Amino acid sequence: MLNEIGCGPCGIITLMTSPSATPVIVVGSVNMDLLFTGLPAIPRPGQTVTSDTFRIIPGGKGANQAAAAARLGATVPFVAAIGTDDLGDQAFAALEAEGVVLDQVRRVSQPTGVAAVVIDATGENAIIVNPGANAELRGADAVAVAARYAGSPAVVLACLEVPVDTVTAWARVARANGWTFILNPAPAPAEPLPAELLGLVDILTPNETELEALGTTRSLHASGVGTVIVTRGGDGADLERPGEPVHHQPAFPATPVDTTGAGDSFNGALATALAEGLEIAAALEFAAATGALSTRAIGARDGLPTRAEVDASLAR
Ligand code: RIB
Repeated sequence: MLNEIGCGPCGIITLMTSPSATPVIVVGSVNMDLLFTGLPAIPRPGQTVTSDTFRIIPGGKGANQAAAAARLGATVPFVAAIGTDDLGDQAFAALEAEGVVLDQVRRVSQPTGVAAVVIDATGENAIIVNPGANAELRGADAVAVAARYAGSPAVVLACLEVPVDTVTAWARVARANGWTFILNPAPAPAEPLPAELLGLVDILTPNETELEALGTTRSLHASGVGTVIVTRGGDGADLERPGEPVHHQPAFPATPVDTTGAGDSFNGALATALAEGLEIAAALEFAAATGALSTRAIGARDGLPTRAEVDASLAR
């Protein structure tokens, strides 16, 4: 939703965004991140390196996306599987603190997903994920949430850290309900995505590496993907739709400390803006501003901006 706010004597009208009731349903992964920072370099095969600091912090692409959207003011029902272990309790509590709606999170007997995240002195990172409980997320989980929101608008955001069959089930549910379905194809899939899934994606948001794994924007459009947004880090993002010129969104100025999770915050913000009714180019700008701000702190969530911070960045 856009509000017009006049600034009195200066006569300038500022457009501010504000939260809406349309939910952003996030279907995705939950990890606890084992974070090693200050490495002299990302280790090569056979090499041992020493890190300056070590922390265990909440992560997982889906959970980061949900937290990003909630911090921006969205109502975020989250669909995920978390272990009943101590790490799962920590992951759950962190999402609860962000105000994410957690009644569709299943606690399962498998260990909570974990990720080893290593960051060198230049901010470069490498990540190893063990999915654990995330592999237990099933398409059947879609039914209860779908029933709750049927008949009203919604935006569904999914990533590929959960089984692709589950993502496809959600894409079907989204299409059947007329909801916008955003797929963040991260991490890059090892195998081609099912044709059915691609045909159900409204907006695909690969980074450059993920796009290489998936084909080209042209081949994706031919597979039925309506809109492709390619994120290019410091080079901004390109919005590509069949038959339209490419719309380039420049990157917002940032001095990144850690880019881990920047894509997740971008996607959470994109979904939030679309749920509020922004048109796609404005939603992309909102997402780019959010993603840039998120790189200001170490870890996937510490840098996530509030609504006011994003609005201030957009107004600059
Ligand atoms: O996108 C960043 C995330 O990727 C980390 O939080 C880690 O858990 C991995 O899933």
